[in-house]
Amino acid sequence: MTRRILGDRLDGLIRAIPGGSALAQAVLRLIDPERRALHALRERRDLHLFQPFPETFEDRYPELFDALVLRLARLEAPRILSFGCSRGMEVRALRQRLPLAEITGIDVNAWALDRARQADPDPRSRYILADAPDPSERYDAVLAMAVFRHGQIELERPEDCAAILPFADVAAGIARLDAVLRPGGWLAIYNAHFRFADMPVAGHYRAEPFRMTDHAPQTLLYGPDNRRIDGTEYDAVLFRKAPG
Ligand SMILES: C[S@@+](CC[C@H](N)C(=O)[O-])C[C@H]1O[C@@H](n2cnc3c(N)ncnc32)[C@H](O)[C@@H]1O
Repeated sequence: MTRRILGDRLDGLIRAIPGGSALAQAVLRLIDPERRALHALRERRDLHLFQPFPETFEDRYPELFDALVLRLARLEAPRILSFGCSRGMEVRALRQRLPLAEITGIDVNAWALDRARQADPDPRSRYILADAPDPSERYDAVLAMAVFRHGQIELERPEDCAAILPFADVAAGIARLDAVLRPGGWLAIYNAHFRFADMPVAGHYRAEPFRMTDHAPQTLLYGPDNRRIDGTEYDAVLFRKAPG
């Protein structure tokens, strides 16, 4: 039985005890290093933390990865940043398509990064524990997939997202990614609660007509005033920075 299944069963049992919820959480953290790492992360106040949950999947966005590869084809060894790489699935999916690429995965979750390193011995891959890219680096493509969102927003769908994940924090995070992307480089953002078109840096980018048919457009959206925008969807995912 995996730790996760054992944990879920224990959770159910302990929660049945009056006042058992906090105890259940503490016990689960003791036996499950993933929950422990997530808890430690959410306790920290010194990080620019966006989506704290590290859920990810193998080859999660195949159409987008293929579209990116086409656009990077003229470069022999493109430099790619997977921001919020979690357990490294995105890095490995890109590696399969671009064997010579220099790919950097950045994440704030030490447990997830350890898993990523263990699964990827390629010397052209590197994994960095950080909440932002080193501003002196330059990349040909940057991906931030399922990062500028929050599980609590998904669950509660508040009218105002400021208390959980304010627009200004996301805009600052995207500005840090913009700073490390070369002129003419590619930025991929999806599974977000915010439209790239609303970001202050968007004026330097052109949205590609490319659309994913293997993923739905984003619908739980918030504007620069942090208010929920109902009845709209956003399907732009790939943006080209103006050449220098
Ligand atoms: C839902 S996972 C997305 C994983 C992968 N990009 C994907 O789409 O499958 C979100 C990840 O973003 C990471 N994250 C959140 N804020 C971050 C930050 N400021 N810097 C780096 N990683 C961050 C979390 O630790 C988590 O692993």
